[in-house]
Amino acid sequence: MLEAVRRFEQEMEEARGMVEEYLAGLFQESVPDNALHEAMRYSVLAGGKRLRPILTLKFAEACGGRMEDVLRPACAIELLHTYSLIHDDLPCMDNDTLRRGKPTSHVMFGEWMATLAGDALQAAAFELVMTSGLPAETVVKMGAVLAQAAGRQGMCLGQAMDMKSEGQRLTIDELAAIHQYKTAALLIAAAKFGVLAAGGGDVQLKNAERYAYHLGMAYQIIDDVLDATATTQELGKTAGKDEKSEKTTFVTLMTERDARHVAGDQTKYAVAALRGSFKKTGFLETLAVYLEERKY
Ligand code: IPE
Ligand code: IPE
Ligand code: MG
Ligand code: MG
Ligand code: MG
Repeated sequence: MLEAVRRFEQEMEEARGMVEEYLAGLFQESVPDNALHEAMRYSVLAGGKRLRPILTLKFAEACGGRMEDVLRPACAIELLHTYSLIHDDLPCMDNDTLRRGKPTSHVMFGEWMATLAGDALQAAAFELVMTSGLPAETVVKMGAVLAQAAGRQGMCLGQAMDMKSEGQRLTIDELAAIHQYKTAALLIAAAKFGVLAAGGGDVQLKNAERYAYHLGMAYQIIDDVLDATATTQELGKTAGKDEKSEKTTFVTLMTERDARHVAGDQTKYAVAALRGSFKKTGFLETLAVYLEERKY
């Protein structure tokens, strides 16, 4: 058991290291006369768990591919995610001043520059997919997957629903739909990227989607729990923000214990989705449990 944990941690460090190195390479140069580049660089290189690119790398591996061959599309998802965080923190949205342990983009660079840094990161994400060097057919599929996950059927829709519902009381089903769009959609795209890049088939795609859907639901429920229970220092972002913004979350609809219970069920469904169609699932199974138990 201890050996399995050690192995998981090693694999996590390895994948995270590869992602950090690739992102650092993309934004290697500081370009002081290009303030937009500097703002993008600031947020991308601020750290973060790098969960989405790690999912891409590990789903590629689960389908028999090599992690190093999918780093570029994996990092495309991280750029898109970073854009979503910059915009999520804007004064007109969650109005947050701390992200990844550092002042938010608009605090550092002002609102219009932060908005543009997000916009340009979204464009850069698609650029990375288009220039991934993967077969044209795969690139086209990935472009469509990312656009659908990011836009009006995905993350942006979820963010719009989330903002619109501030101060309102939602049902569990309405809240679950917000979580699905704002958070699970991008995790699903990340998992599908790995399968597509490694040449996986339809059954693998469908099961990757199932895994990432449940993982995403659990992930956002735990994000809600941590917002209400962890400290700003632990999170690297402002704790207690959801209550202040009058958001409905899993901890306003139920107790922390029950919310953790629902996240536990979602984690089990995620793990179950891995059975049968992949070559190697050990890391992805442990990842789901690790994320459920995370402290930040
Ligand atoms: C934060 O995402 C927003 C949510 C969808 C919960 P992460 O928790 O993945 O943030 P980083 O990338 O590690 O900073
Ligand atoms: C945001 O959800 C999800 C995104 C699409 C960025 P939250 O607003 O709860 O994310 P945090 O807690 O600020 O990271
Ligand atoms: Mg938000
Ligand atoms: Mg927020
Ligand atoms: Mg949150």
